[in-house]
Amino acid sequence: PVIYGITPTYTRIEQKAELVRLSHTLLHVPNFHWIIVEDATSKTELVTNFLKSCGLPYTHLLALTPPNYKLKTTDPNWLKPRGVLQRNAALEWLRTNLDSQSKGVVYFMDDDNTYSLQVFKELRNTNKVSVWPVGLSGALRYESPLVKNGKVTGWFTAWKPDRPFPMDMAGFAINLSLFFKYPDAKFSLKVERGYQESTLLTNMNIKMEDLEPKAKNCNEVIVWHTRTEKTKLKNEDKLKKRDGHGSDLRIEV
Ligand code: UGA
Ligand code: MN
Repeated sequence: PVIYGITPTYTRIEQKAELVRLSHTLLHVPNFHWIIVEDATSKTELVTNFLKSCGLPYTHLLALTPPNYKLKTTDPNWLKPRGVLQRNAALEWLRTNLDSQSKGVVYFMDDDNTYSLQVFKELRNTNKVSVWPVGLSGALRYESPLVKNGKVTGWFTAWKPDRPFPMDMAGFAINLSLFFKYPDAKFSLKVERGYQESTLLTNMNIKMEDLEPKAKNCNEVIVWHTRTEKTKLKNEDKLKKRDGHGSDLRIEV
């Protein structure tokens, strides 16, 4: 099966660094197809050129988050959901360009997380939905499904533990065939915070007993919810005042 990695991404000063880092992981993954969805009105030059030269098989899509759903720089990062319409655009692409006979596994990969190559080996064999722990998630060392006798029986999490599937986007993968069996299953801007993962999986009629624990029965952390520090650019303004210009804008960062 092909692994379809779905990555929402948006313009900010750290974007290229994130994409280079992620792509250099993905270049080590056989049989991988990258679906990059820009949160923008038109495809940017930076992402277009980056993808052309990244060496991976890819699909470049667009889906703009409407302004009333977009985070302002002053908002706390949890105020509004991120990546929702971008992930849905990727699901629409899969449903249009593949069919129910196509062999694949779908994994939602944010552009700033850290992925061990091990996770791709584990998730490639997913019958319905496979799950594993996510490090540095939920203000804990890790969040994880709880496993007894090879079956998921509950969750190790502190935040909204009553959600049907209280896990991060990085902690599960779905067999492609389920997207054809449930053609309307998708994410939603309208659901309560923290319910994106649960919304998709309940749309697909997934039950706890369907979950396939990976990573040594969820005893190993092989993905991390890392977040990149916001880069300060205050000296650009300082130099603008001093010299009339900051750094050379022809140099892409
Ligand atoms: C956490 C979860 O790990 C995400 O899967 C979830 O989408 C997000 O919260 C949420 O609450 O909606 P977090 O690290 O806080 O993730 O979010 P980001 O990494 O900032 O954003 C998730 C993805 O959406 C990234 O790939 C990012 O590039 C993209 N994004 C972010 C956009 O496409 N547009 C934006 O305006 C912001
Ligand atoms: Mn993130």
